[in-house]
Amino acid sequence: MKTRSIAAIAASIGLLMGGVALAEEHKTPVAPQSYLDMKNPLKDTKAVVENGGKIYEKKCKKCHGEKGDGKGSAAGTLDIKPVAFSAPGFLKGKSDGQLFFITDKGSPDTDMDDFGPGSSSNLSADDMWSVIAYIRKTFTK
Ligand code: HEC
Repeated sequence: MKTRSIAAIAASIGLLMGGVALAEEHKTPVAPQSYLDMKNPLKDTKAVVENGGKIYEKKCKKCHGEKGDGKGSAAGTLDIKPVAFSAPGFLKGKSDGQLFFITDKGSPDTDMDDFGPGSSSNLSADDMWSVIAYIRKTFTK
């Protein structure tokens, strides 16, 4: 009996540590080459950035935050936190194609949903490029 309960305790500690390790080791998927080769086809004109801003407000702000700092109203309870677009160097270090890929397909095992065609948000490619133009224009540091 005794050895069994020790084994059970050891197993639960193992599970617990496994869970912690999983959260720490989470990596956002790197986009396939076909995405990494993409460049935003839209210029960041006033109309594009305004359209992107409206989409950001409706679909992204609650997690990524009004200031792009990842501190939106819904961010607090998430296990894996939304990225801070405004963190120094973050956007400069990300290609258009990477930003587009995660917006389109989401990041598995996180609350970052897929927003692209066929998802519940069903954003068009132009809408996703507009929101990316808005994010770059507004939050790049
Ligand atoms: C419910 C919360 C939530 C909403 C709403 C949300 N995101 Fe995210 N987002 C996340 C989380 C969490 C991550 C971090 C994912 C990870 O660590 O893999 C993330 C990461 C990202 C990334 C990072 C990609 C990378 O390569 O690092 C981009 C780009 C992004 N989101 C764009 C958007 C856009 C655009 C919208 C709105 C159309 C949006 N997100 C809405 C939670 C959210």
